[in-house]
Amino acid sequence: MTIDLRSDTVTRPSPAMRQAMLEAEVGDIQYDDDPTVNLLQERIADLLGKEAALWMPSGTQANQVGLLLLTRPGDDVIASQGAHSIFHEAGGSAKNAGIQFTIIGNRRGFSAAEFSEAIKPRGHQVYPPTTLVLVENTHNRAGGTIWPQNEIIEICKSARSQNISTYLDGARLWNAQVETGLSLAELADPFDLVMVALTKGLGAPGGSMLAGSSDLIRDAVRFRRMLGGAMRQVGFFAAAALHALDHNWQRLKEDHANARLIAEVLAPLPAVDLDLSTVETNIIYFDISNPNLSAMDLVQQAREKGLYMNAMGPKTIRIVTHLDVSTADCKHAGEILGELLSH
Ligand SMILES: Cc1ncc(COP(=O)(O)O)c(C=O)c1O
Repeated sequence: MTIDLRSDTVTRPSPAMRQAMLEAEVGDIQYDDDPTVNLLQERIADLLGKEAALWMPSGTQANQVGLLLLTRPGDDVIASQGAHSIFHEAGGSAKNAGIQFTIIGNRRGFSAAEFSEAIKPRGHQVYPPTTLVLVENTHNRAGGTIWPQNEIIEICKSARSQNISTYLDGARLWNAQVETGLSLAELADPFDLVMVALTKGLGAPGGSMLAGSSDLIRDAVRFRRMLGGAMRQVGFFAAAALHALDHNWQRLKEDHANARLIAEVLAPLPAVDLDLSTVETNIIYFDISNPNLSAMDLVQQAREKGLYMNAMGPKTIRIVTHLDVSTADCKHAGEILGELLSH
């Protein structure tokens, strides 16, 4: 038996989710004819407190459409260290939107003061103008950390006063919601445009949603098509997402407790460098302090025992808990890691 902790994207639709997909009413989304997609778009817009929402094939494409909508080639975008759009989108941000990033902050994101200091003004003959600030909540490469909402409010207020657009990569906003108790609408409120993923903690097999003003979402439809993301009978995916909203969202706290359980085994081990305070949701990032052991070695040794993880750097490992791993699985994962890392 394997315990797959590589990502929360590895989940497979449950029988009930498959049934919902089978029964979905569908139509061609390019004619706005898919009732299930329309329903999902309305429900997500409502949850996020925005005028409109749009189905997107992936979170990466949603982020790329966001950049295309809110910047012009040559602009500067302020983002945090390790942001998904910088690290995990295959260079798309430079290729598609032609922007450059200014990277600031640390694992907790960045403060309003750091943001203000980093802004490059418009209208200067040499500076690339800062036209967008990108926030990722929860922050994947920081270990699933939650940005302090008061800081986010200050950053976005400052951005708005300087005519800088605001974008939230909320692939795992669901996790931030259950952990903070703030509503999705409260978490999304400071931002012009917000992405949430359906395929991570929610466990649906495809799709992300982009939400914002009706004007922005109308323009997003064109960019989605430009990037080849205009699909047809997507209601099958939307039905899975609607099912997930009802069944898989509020249980995310179990994933967080399971991550905590593994982290508490790891943190005291001498071969491990892990700050337990960063384990706030379903992701654990830790470094191996044993000089004779690489992340790839550990991944391989764990794989031989049926435990799958990802190496994210020469000494860095990522573990992600999700719907398809139980507390017993996570206890067992802790035992395997305890054994491999105790010498
Ligand atoms: C923070 C964040 N943003 C965006 C994405 C992209 O989503 P997708 O895999 O659907 O392209 C991911 C995927 O892991 C992510 O972690």
